[in-house]
Amino acid sequence: MGPSGPEQRLPRRSRSGGEWRSTCEMTTQNARELTEESVEARLAELLGQERFTPPAEFSDDAEISDPQLRARAAADPVAYWAEQASGLRWSTPWERVLDDDDAPFFRWFEGGRINVSDNCLDRHVEAGLGDRVAYHWHGEEGETRDITYAELLDRTARFAGALKELGVGQGDVVGIYLPMIPEVVVAMLACTRIGAVHNVVFGGFSAGSVAERMEVSGAKVLVTTDGARRKGKTAPVKPEVDRTMGQLAPLEKIVVVRNTGIDVPMTEGRDVWFDEVVAAAEPAAPEPMDAEAPLFILYSSGSTAKPKGIQHTTGGYLTGVSTTHRQVFDLKADDVYFCSADVGWITGHSYIVYGPLANGVTSVMYEGAPDYPHKGIWWQLIEQRKVTKFYTAPTAIRACMKWGVEHVAPHDLSSLKLLGSVGEPINPKAWLWYWHVIGGENCPVVDTWWQTETGAIVITTLPGIDAAKPGSAGTPLPGYEVQVLDPETGEQVTEGEGLLAIPRPWPSMLRTLYQDPDRYRSTYWNRFGESTYFVGDSARIDGDGYIWVIGRVDDVINVSGHRLSTAEVESAIVAHPQVAESAVVAKADDLTGQAIVAYVTLQGGTDPSDAVVAEINAAVADRIGKLARPKRIVFTQDLPKTRSGKIMRRLLRDIAEGRDLGDTTTLADPTVVDTLKDRWDAGA
Ligand code: WT7
Repeated sequence: MGPSGPEQRLPRRSRSGGEWRSTCEMTTQNARELTEESVEARLAELLGQERFTPPAEFSDDAEISDPQLRARAAADPVAYWAEQASGLRWSTPWERVLDDDDAPFFRWFEGGRINVSDNCLDRHVEAGLGDRVAYHWHGEEGETRDITYAELLDRTARFAGALKELGVGQGDVVGIYLPMIPEVVVAMLACTRIGAVHNVVFGGFSAGSVAERMEVSGAKVLVTTDGARRKGKTAPVKPEVDRTMGQLAPLEKIVVVRNTGIDVPMTEGRDVWFDEVVAAAEPAAPEPMDAEAPLFILYSSGSTAKPKGIQHTTGGYLTGVSTTHRQVFDLKADDVYFCSADVGWITGHSYIVYGPLANGVTSVMYEGAPDYPHKGIWWQLIEQRKVTKFYTAPTAIRACMKWGVEHVAPHDLSSLKLLGSVGEPINPKAWLWYWHVIGGENCPVVDTWWQTETGAIVITTLPGIDAAKPGSAGTPLPGYEVQVLDPETGEQVTEGEGLLAIPRPWPSMLRTLYQDPDRYRSTYWNRFGESTYFVGDSARIDGDGYIWVIGRVDDVINVSGHRLSTAEVESAIVAHPQVAESAVVAKADDLTGQAIVAYVTLQGGTDPSDAVVAEINAAVADRIGKLARPKRIVFTQDLPKTRSGKIMRRLLRDIAEGRDLGDTTTLADPTVVDTLKDRWDAGA
C-alpha cells in the first residue's frame, strides 16, 4: 500500500554536515560577543544589501535543488499535485485529480480515500519509527515530556475510541479549546481518525467567543481543560466554559483534560474526564475518509462581525501541508523543528500538527509565552534541543529586538539551519536582525505568505535555490500561480502594485465557509470571477517577480499576526449600555504591526468615568479575547460621516497615524475631524 514511512522520503543529513557545523560554531562564538552596538553596526552594513543568496553549505544539501521545478510544475500543475499526493498513503486511489466542473466549489483527488491520522501516525510506526519523538513538550515551569510517535498513536487511537463511545461519528463537529499541551494534538488527530470535524478555538480567545463558535458550528462535543497556565498564573477554564456554554443545546458532552489540577465543577451525565475516558476506551482504527470529507473548520475574522468558518478537507489539505512543509523547511529525517505559534491558529494546524507529523519529524512544542520564565526561553530551548528549523512571526522578532541581544547572546544557536517567518510583512530591519543575530548569517530566512484560507504556504523562497530579498515573501511555490491584478481593470500587473489573486485552484484551498456557500462565493469569487481567488491583500510585484505584500484591503486588522475584524470589535464595544457608536481602525505599530484604535461616542458627553473605560475593555475581552482590546480609545462627540451617513474610516486612520487629512469636503460636518484631531493630540 502506497509508499512507506518518511525514512525513505526524507533524506538523511548531511554530506557536508561536519564542515558546516564548524562554521556555525565559529559564528556562535562571535554571537556570544554580540552587543547592541555590534548588531546595530552590522545591520547598518547589511541594510543596503538587496539579495541574500542561500549559504553554499545549505544549498549543497538542500531537499529542493532543481531550479526547473517551478517550471515543470507550471507545465502541468494538476499532474504535479498528483505526484505530491502520491507520497501519502491512500486506502483507495483517486479517480480524478481535479474536478472543476462546479467552480468555485473545487474538488481534489475525487474518489480517493485516505485517513489523516493514519498518515501522521500509523504509517510511521509501521515503518519502524515508533520510537521517534514526535514532540519534545516543554511546560512553562520547566517540565518536559517526550511523546514518541508510538505513544501519540496509542493515545490518539484510544481517544478516538472514546469519542465514538460518546456518540461522535463522521461529520460531527468537535470543539477543541485547549492550551499548548500534547492533548490538543491528540484531540485533533483523534477527530481525523474517525472522520469527525474539529473546530479548534485559540486558547487566548474568551469562553464567550468559544460559545459563539460552538453554537454556529453545531458542535456536539467540546474538549477543554480544567485550567490554563499563563506566565506563572493559573486561569480557570472549565468554570468559564460552564458559564458561557451551559445552555448550548447541541453540545452533548464536555471532555475535560486535567491540566492544572484545580477543582472544577463537573455536570453529571454531560462532563467526563479526558484521562478516564482514554483509559477506558478501546482503540479505534483509522476510518478511510473520502478525500473531500471535511477535515476541520477554523473560524477567522472577516469584514463583518460574524466570523467565517473556513472549511478544509482531507486529501487536498494533507497534500498541501505535507508538501510545503517538506519543501520550505528543507526537512531531513533528523531535523528538530520548532514553530512558536499556537495550535489555535492555522499556522499551528498546518505547521505544528499536520505538516510535521505527516513528514514524521520531531518538533519542540512550548506551552508558554516567549518572555516566560525569561526573555531568552526560546533560545534556551533551541540550544537544549538542538533545534535545526525555527518558525516564528515578525511581531515576536521585533519584541526580541526590543528586549535586547543580551537574552540571545548566552545561547549556542549553532544547531539552527533555517529560519521562517509568517503572519505579516516583515520589515527589513527585523529580517536582518533575525538573519544576523539568530541565524548567525548561516541560515536562509524564508518569509512565508499564506492565509487560513490557503491552508498551506503559497509564496516564499525555496531555501536552497532562491535568493531572499528582505521584506519580500518571494515567488509562488511550485504548483501555484499568483497574480497581482489592477484593482480597476482586473488586468495583470507585471511590475507594480495591485491586488493579490490566485487564478488556479490548489489542493489545500478552503472548500467553502461552513454552512454558508453564498458568503464563500461573494467573499472570494466575486471580484475577479469564479475561477480567480480574491486574496484580500494588496501587493507589489517587482521586475524579478518577487511579491511584496502590503496588507489587507478589507476591514481586517492584523495585530501580532492575529487576524481581527473591526466590525467584531465594534459590536463588542457598542454592547456597552453607555456607548452610542463606535468605529475601530488599525494604526501602524512598531511592535505588533498594527494596533487597534477605537473611536467611541457616548450617550451624554465625551468624558467617561474610569469605570466605563474599564467596562469597555472588559466587554471586548469577554466577547472576543484580551488580544482584541483597543490600544487606545478616543471618546468623541461625533464621528466623521459622509452625507449619506457612512463613517469615513480613512480619516480615522489618518488621524491615528498623524497624517494630513486631505479632502474632507465630502463630510456632512467637516468640523468633526478638527475636534477629533485635537482630542487625539491631547491624548483624550
Ligand atoms: C493574512 C492571513 C498564514 C498564517 C498566519 C496568518 C497576512 C500572512 C504574511 C507574510 C505579509 C502576511 C496577509 C494574509 N500575512 N503571512 N509572510 N507577509 N503578510 O493567517 O490569520 O489567515 O491571516 O496575514 O495579510 O492575508 P491569517
